[in-house]
Amino acid sequence: MLQMSLILSATLALAFGAPVPTSDPCSTLGSLTIGNVTYEHVSDCYKSIEFFPEVAETTLKTMHTAYNDFLCFRDAALTPDLDLPFRSAPVDAIKELNKIAKKHYTRDFDFHADFLNLATAFNDPHINYQVECYSSYVFKQPLNLYASVVDGKQALHVFQDESGSELNDCEVLTINGQNALEHIQAWADKFSGASKDPGVRLNAALVSHTYDAVNHFWGVSDGGFRLRSTLPEESSLDYRFKCPDRDTVKKTFQWAVTDGPEAGTFTDKTSFVANVCVAPTASSGGTPSDHTAQELGPVPFTDTPAIHKHKRRRLLEQREEHTKRQLVRREVAEPTLDLPDATFVAADNKTAVYQLKSDPSVGILVVPSMMFWNDTITFMQHGLSELAARKVSRIIVDTTGNGGGYTIMVNLLPTIFFPTQDKTLHSHLAEYRVSTAVQALTSADLASLTVDTTFEPRTYLNRTTHASFTTNFFLDPVNKTLNGREAEYTQKVFGDAPLEWVNQTITYPWTNDSSKITILTDGNCGSACGMATDIFVSVHGVKAVAVGGYPGDNLSMFSYAGASVKTVDEIIGNFEELNVTAPFARLPYKGNFRVTIYDVYSRNDTVMLEYNPARHVAAHRLQYTPETARHHDLLWGAVAKTAWSS
Ligand SMILES: *[C@@H]1O[C@H](CO)[C@@H](O)[C@H](O)[C@H]1NC(C)=O
Ligand SMILES: *[C@@H]1O[C@H](CO)[C@@H](O)[C@H](O)[C@H]1NC(C)=O
Ligand SMILES: *[C@@H]1O[C@H](CO)[C@@H](O)[C@H](O)[C@H]1NC(C)=O
Ligand SMILES: *[C@@H]1O[C@H](CO)[C@@H](O)[C@H](O)[C@H]1NC(C)=O
Ligand SMILES: *[C@@H]1O[C@H](CO)[C@@H](O)[C@H](O)[C@H]1NC(C)=O
Ligand SMILES: *[C@@H]1O[C@H](CO)[C@@H](O)[C@H](O)[C@H]1NC(C)=O
Ligand SMILES: *[C@@H]1O[C@H](CO)[C@@H](O)[C@H](O)[C@H]1NC(C)=O
Ligand SMILES: *[C@@H]1O[C@H](CO)[C@@H](O)[C@H](O)[C@H]1NC(C)=O
Ligand SMILES: *[C@@H]1O[C@H](CO)[C@@H](O)[C@H](O)[C@H]1NC(C)=O
Ligand SMILES: *[C@@H]1O[C@H](CO)[C@@H](O)[C@H](O)[C@H]1NC(C)=O
Repeated sequence: MLQMSLILSATLALAFGAPVPTSDPCSTLGSLTIGNVTYEHVSDCYKSIEFFPEVAETTLKTMHTAYNDFLCFRDAALTPDLDLPFRSAPVDAIKELNKIAKKHYTRDFDFHADFLNLATAFNDPHINYQVECYSSYVFKQPLNLYASVVDGKQALHVFQDESGSELNDCEVLTINGQNALEHIQAWADKFSGASKDPGVRLNAALVSHTYDAVNHFWGVSDGGFRLRSTLPEESSLDYRFKCPDRDTVKKTFQWAVTDGPEAGTFTDKTSFVANVCVAPTASSGGTPSDHTAQELGPVPFTDTPAIHKHKRRRLLEQREEHTKRQLVRREVAEPTLDLPDATFVAADNKTAVYQLKSDPSVGILVVPSMMFWNDTITFMQHGLSELAARKVSRIIVDTTGNGGGYTIMVNLLPTIFFPTQDKTLHSHLAEYRVSTAVQALTSADLASLTVDTTFEPRTYLNRTTHASFTTNFFLDPVNKTLNGREAEYTQKVFGDAPLEWVNQTITYPWTNDSSKITILTDGNCGSACGMATDIFVSVHGVKAVAVGGYPGDNLSMFSYAGASVKTVDEIIGNFEELNVTAPFARLPYKGNFRVTIYDVYSRNDTVMLEYNPARHVAAHRLQYTPETARHHDLLWGAVAKTAWSS
């Protein structure tokens, strides 16, 4: 890493040391305060950075190892013609990396854009390549958009107009001359990466309801179409609107630049690269970036932090994933959705419980994240008992905005509703890719009394005996050929979870009764949320209600449930803390680089959950109306009717 940075400095000196260019777009950009920065300022600076062969070489080597040896979907991603509701082209990561290696670049921007495009193509937000270098400025359109259906006809409307043009609720007819919905879908298909389901990608591109669990209010989040951390393709968008009682309105809106690196971070190209792009070296004492990259994607992200801990706490802290949703700048700014038809019953700072006024037999458990701990499980059980005392007999589990969290909660959330002492009933069979490096890592992990990583064999259960492993199952792999390509995987094992965190003596009118439980989702229930939903549905026959997408089409009830994710830095950190030589070097640039490290199977399936579209189809469908798009309580009412009136 130190060596890398020396080489890089030398390159920079060569590139910029000699004749000082008369105009350096990054000097201009660096001198402006954010309100005066335009799309062009950012674009010109980004595109003025020359390609660095040394950065490219390390990046290629590391990403090749990450995709080739760790990514559990390397070969599953080659699957052609995935059934509906998926529409997601096959991805051959190794072939794409070879193409990048052979391509001639002049701009650094284009090189990293190719890695971003490759990561996005998986349509799995767990898989990510985002350099801070080209994602630190934030771009925003003045309009929030939503799709609703009236008399069977779906149309795009303005949710909130911040341009002062009085466009609220106007129908958006076209964007850049193209049918507006088709334009957004085309954008989402190429750039969103939110889901393998195009209807879920549409939902993720538009406004969504969001519960702020800490401040106890409901608001809306910007969709991915409106708010970008990557450079938009053009400086502005042309819109045509149909507003009530007005002629067709035409408008062009520039992308506003609403955020960026702090003033003074850089003064020219050289300092832009040094201070915004290049990762701090180990010797400079900086911590490799963990939370600095901006994540404005439509779906929140999860990861598994490397945890230093004592073995006896292993079970509780293992295989954690935490959502970075709360850290991102797309959080809800203000309460914009009031809930007149719902009685607020109780809340902690992770979840909330409501009762519907128009149908008091219906209660709602709001689960906006899976990043909660034993105190929240105790709270949920208390809140559900309160609902039962109020004669609530049916429950909506509202997963709105839930992008995942701790994988043990996949097991524990369903256990609140369906008590069991069987640790494997609410667990998925999982498998890792196997390489000599990961075998060395797991052997060291098993031997270490002080370090536990995500890979620790002891935290998994043998699928036959249900006993925790005391031996390293990574040393006993199987060969598997998927889509014509062979690789070694571990045998399938179950995840473990502390069932005792759920007080199983507490029961409710809906305990063990799947007909009294439903799940509300817009398909962006991701990662641990998706896995928990799959347990409710595939193990217990709960029927989920999926809202949004396209009328007449099926919609996924969850996305990227394909298990656990780690950043390249975290994997390297695991090797370092166990004193095992890592198979790759840290990436030269700061950013967020993630791969999925193990995949899961639903029940006894032979196809990975992530690549099994049939497992994703929600039993019930619902479309937003102009009313439910603006009122979350009315959406609950519509969900109750959909789930229980037929
Ligand atoms: C934009 O620039 C003008 C002068 O060029 C300055 O007066 C103004 O304060 C700047 N605005 C912001 C938000 O920096
Ligand atoms: C959330 O609640 C827990 C337990 O009640 C408390 O420890 C924590 O500080 C709270 N967090 C916030 C952000 O209020
Ligand atoms: C949660 O677990 C911790 C130990 O990890 C314990 O001290 C605490 O009492 C538990 N809280 C609840 C509400 O069960
Ligand atoms: C699980 O236990 C069974 C029965 O003892 C054994 O045959 C099998 O090899 C074990 N699985 C793994 C992955 O070690
Ligand atoms: C998997 O196949 C490779 C090459 O085909 C072979 O070297 C390896 O031993 C096989 N592994 C197992 C577990 O059979
Ligand atoms: C479980 O809940 C029951 C009923 O509320 C209560 O009496 C008991 O103390 C609880 N058990 C634990 C371990 O908290
Ligand atoms: C729920 O089902 C479990 C497992 O079948 C059973 O042990 C438990 O007694 C049932 N509880 C209720 C309240 O029906
Ligand atoms: C929706 O999914 C169900 C179940 O998989 C299937 O039977 C039905 O044909 C699908 N409908 C459409 C419109 O694709
Ligand atoms: C790694 O090496 C360091 C320094 O030699 C040592 O202090 C530490 O205990 C080792 N860690 C493990 C997990 O072996
Ligand atoms: C999976 O298959 C095994 C062996 O055939 C069987 O015992 C088990 O019940 C099946 N599990 C599920 C969830 O279908």
